[in-house]
Amino acid sequence: MITLLTVLIAANKVSHTHYVPKLNCNCPPGFKLNDKNECIAQNLYMAYSTNNDPGVGGLKTALPKVRDGFSPQQIDLGRYLFFDPVLSADGTISCASCHDPQKGFSDGLTASVGINGHQLKRSSPSLWNVAYLKLFFWDGRASTLEEQMQGPLFSKEEMGNTPENLLKTINGIENYRHLFSEAFPNKSSSDPISLNEIYTAITAFEASLISLNSKYDRYAHGYHEALNAQEIEGMNIFRSFVARCAECHTPPLFTNQQIAVLGTPEPNGATLDPGAQIPFKDSTLRGGFKVPSLRNIEKTAPYMHSGNFATLRETVQFYTDGRGHAVPKEENLRIHWHIWEPELTDFELDRLVDFLKTLTDESFMPKVPKVLPSNQAAFTNNQNQESIQ
Ligand code: HEC
Ligand code: HEC
Repeated sequence: MITLLTVLIAANKVSHTHYVPKLNCNCPPGFKLNDKNECIAQNLYMAYSTNNDPGVGGLKTALPKVRDGFSPQQIDLGRYLFFDPVLSADGTISCASCHDPQKGFSDGLTASVGINGHQLKRSSPSLWNVAYLKLFFWDGRASTLEEQMQGPLFSKEEMGNTPENLLKTINGIENYRHLFSEAFPNKSSSDPISLNEIYTAITAFEASLISLNSKYDRYAHGYHEALNAQEIEGMNIFRSFVARCAECHTPPLFTNQQIAVLGTPEPNGATLDPGAQIPFKDSTLRGGFKVPSLRNIEKTAPYMHSGNFATLRETVQFYTDGRGHAVPKEENLRIHWHIWEPELTDFELDRLVDFLKTLTDESFMPKVPKVLPSNQAAFTNNQNQESIQ
């Protein structure tokens, strides 16, 4: 009887400190578990040729190489870390503060706001389909997700942390030590958690954010009724050599992953953002930015690196207002040759917006954790929370 009581008390103690008892052992939707406990991406685009020169209009073309192969446990652990404000210096900001699932994993602001109210200079990009990207940040200055996240984690203006303090915090939370030992084989819960394991888990979660089941996708795979006449008209304008959108926003990812100089304006007369010129040390890239994917674009207003355009209609209008019309007089930018004067009519611009809205798909939306291993409140502005397990 006494032993039974001791066992019960001990069990109660464990479940009390372990707010999250176990990680998910199933892959998120869109992935299939193989016999090595790896989640492998599955989608209809895999049936198409991987030819590198598919032409700009091709609907049935392959996606770029995907970052997959993470375990279900790593993906689930990354989900907790992504929503946990203990990753920031003062426990106030998580990745999700600026990448809110309800706002297309962006934040709805012209420019994001970091720790202690620091005003950042650029708008927060969506994280949908980052598993397919080769360059990260608007100016393309990072080439992996692991490298990218060290920007916000350790920037004084974003999450304000240091590698030493982050390790100290995470290692000090028994529940995390337990979960990391579940997500990383050959690790016991008394082994210290490393930075690389933190980066791997968050990368695993980010790479699970797949959006490839939009109305457009159904159309592309051969279901003609998925788009109405106006949306098809918009798609044809998008792919035309007059508008040239698909030259840069190439399907199926809707980006060719290049840097292009467009000469988009800064808000309120702010000075020109040199963009890719800085990381690539190349003056021909002055004012150049990464071509963003347009998937779920309906959800991520305001638009461009500067968040200067409030609506999609204003954004597409930019492309027809004349090459270089928004470039400050003292600047001499090398504007990309596909940016010209297509003289699109109001009717055509409206149809482009109709088409852009067919790229919305949030069917694989992950759940916001109800409880976090740190027992901090998860970022909550949100109805999509899971129920307590
Ligand atoms: C304070 C707001 C803020 C926080 C917190 C934040 N981000 Fe970001 N994130 C941004 C902004 C703004 C950019 C674009 C910055 C730039 O391009 O210079 C960005 C860019 C990114 C990108 C690049 C996407 C692309 O298409 O190039 C990824 C990936 C990303 N963030 C992931 C994360 C992760 C993971 C975390 C948590 C470790 C995080 N972010 C925390 C605001 C934030
Ligand atoms: C020369 C390559 C190029 C062409 C052609 C092009 N774009 Fe873009 N697009 C970009 C780049 C680069 C950006 C980001 C620019 C910035 O932030 O200053 C962008 C941004 C956008 C955005 C905002 C994305 C976001 O996340 O904020 C939309 C919407 C868009 N383009 C639609 C279009 C449409 C519609 C067309 C055709 C009329 C078009 N683009 C033609 C390169 C191009």
